[in-house]
Order: sequence, then C-alpha cells, then structure tokens
Amino acid sequence: MKYCCNANAVRSAMARIRPHVHNTPLMTSQTLNEMTGHNVFLKTENLQKTGSFKFRGAMNAALKMKSERPEVDCLVTDSSGNHGQALALAAKKANLGCYVVMPNNSAECKLESVRGYGATVVSCEPSEIDRQEGAREVGAKHGAEYVSASQNPDVIAGQGTIGLEILQQNPNIEVIVASVGGGGLISGIATAAKDLKPEIKIIAAEPEIANDCFLSKRSGVLTANATFPTTIADGVRVSVGENTWPMVRDLVDDVITVQEDEIKAATLLAWQRCKLVIEPTAGLAIAAVLSDKFSDSLKRLLGDDKPTNVAIVICGGNIDFSAIPKLLL
Ligand SMILES: Cc1ncc(COP(=O)(O)O)c(C=O)c1O
Repeated sequence: MKYCCNANAVRSAMARIRPHVHNTPLMTSQTLNEMTGHNVFLKTENLQKTGSFKFRGAMNAALKMKSERPEVDCLVTDSSGNHGQALALAAKKANLGCYVVMPNNSAECKLESVRGYGATVVSCEPSEIDRQEGAREVGAKHGAEYVSASQNPDVIAGQGTIGLEILQQNPNIEVIVASVGGGGLISGIATAAKDLKPEIKIIAAEPEIANDCFLSKRSGVLTANATFPTTIADGVRVSVGENTWPMVRDLVDDVITVQEDEIKAATLLAWQRCKLVIEPTAGLAIAAVLSDKFSDSLKRLLGDDKPTNVAIVICGGNIDFSAIPKLLL
C-alpha cells in the first residue's frame, strides 16, 4: 500500500464507528459568509463525543483491536489532550482497559476527564521522552497496546470519516480546511474526500510559530518543529509524523500559517457570533479562512477566488475554562 491508510479503510471505519459517534451538524454562518465572501460550512466536531474529532479515530482503533486481536485486553497512550480522553471512552465502550500516561503538570480538569471516562492515569515527568518511556513501561507491565494519537493507521482512518460525512452532507463542498498537528486529521480527510471527489482541495491551517507542515511541504522533506512550540492552539504543538507525511505531502494542496492573535480573534468570533464553544485549535482553521492568504491560496488552486463552498473542520471544544481570561487578553 502506498500510504498507511486508504479510502477502503476509511469506509470500513465508518461502518464500524457509525453506531458510536455523532454525525455532527454541518452548520452555516451568515457572519462568516459576509466576512469571507464565501459560503462557509462548519463541521462541528466540538459537538462530537468527548468534545473533539479524536473520538472517531480512537473508537475505530479500539473496536478493530477488539475484533481482530482478542488477546489484547487493554490500551495505552501518552496524550495529555483530546486523544487521551477519546481513547479512555473508546476503550470503555469496547470493553478494554486503558492507561493514559500524562505529565504531572497536566490541568486538573484534564486528569479528571480521563479518569471520568474510566481510564487509569499514569503520571510522568513533563517531557516527550518521559511520556514515551512511561507508555513503553505500561505496555510492558500490563500488556497494553500503544495507540498513537496521529500515526496509528486505524486512528487516521477513523478521522477520515469526517471527509465522508462532509461530502454526504453537502456534495458541493469545493475546499476543506483543517488544522494540522501530527497530521492524522488532515491526511484521513484528504484520503477519503479525494477518493469521492478528486478535484476537491484540502488546505491545512497551522500556527506561524509551529509551522513544521508548511516548512516540510515547501522543502519536500519532513521537517519537525525545531523546539516545542508554545502556540495557544495546543492541539497542534506536535509535528507531522512519519506515517502521515506521505499523505500530507501528496494530498494536501496548501498550508496557511497564521499568527497567535489571529487564532485568538477567530476563537472569540466563533464563541460570540456562531455561539459555538470551540478551542483555539479549531479557531486556527477559522483564522486561516479569514486571512488574506486564503484568497491567494484559492487563486493558486482554483484560478480565482470567486465565492467558493468551504468546509471548516471545527475540530474540538475542550477548553480549560480557567484559561479563558488569557484568551481574552
Ligand atoms: C482539537 C484538535 N484539533 C486538531 C488536532 C490535530 O490533529 P492531528 O494531530 O491529527 O493533526 C488535535 C490533536 O490533538 C486536536 O486535539
């Protein structure tokens, strides 16, 4: 197989997870239409179970593990964010145990949420190496299978179901915009959407200060962020990985980078005008569509920037409410 995930895998994922996930609304916004001059559609994955699209990939991985490897009785991951919560609930629904290795400085609300979904939290020092080592130790001790947040092929296939749903809900969508971190979300969507509609354009949104995807696409060589970025869009602080890179390289048409202030403003706009509780990583995708770079991108990809049917993936709504004042400043 050319890539670690293909359209058949996404279709199988859809059949597998359908009874467990919300087919989230594809909403319109008059405000965004007027501000952008396009027909904007919001795929509201902030309303997905566990508050983000991550539940799709986690549920697919857990169900597939249960049916294909019955000897495995628990899962482990090292995500402190949305994937940790998603895997905790997915494992519970699939009758599997779950360990989530989380840094000892994680917000209390995140720890509570992971425990609330029934997983066991294993605390570690707050570094990438300690997290990975923690996950390896838990795997060895409890026989738990590791499920990567963005590089596991079943996770990528699950995220791709968003692409299928968007085109079922509106076959006239011409462009899909989604935030990129490890690349599981956008590569799954690109795989599914381009299989159904080869001419559709897929645009990644990335913070200027975490622009590994932009740099990788420009050079044609996978290039990680030099240091761990402090962007407010905390879901995309990780770099594109080895499994997702070939799909990002070949199927993603453009990458738009935006400033931190633009991410904040777009997040506030969604709260105030769209009445959607979204997290900054979702605001990032809105910010990309609001930026001048979006018109330039459409001119490059479609020949002009005439009114276009644009779907924005509102990837999550998990905000730490104690951090809101920082967002408003
Ligand atoms: C809300 C949200 N959006 C987007 C992403 C990026 O997804 P990926 O790492 O698959 O690119 C994440 C990852 O944690 C996330 O939590």
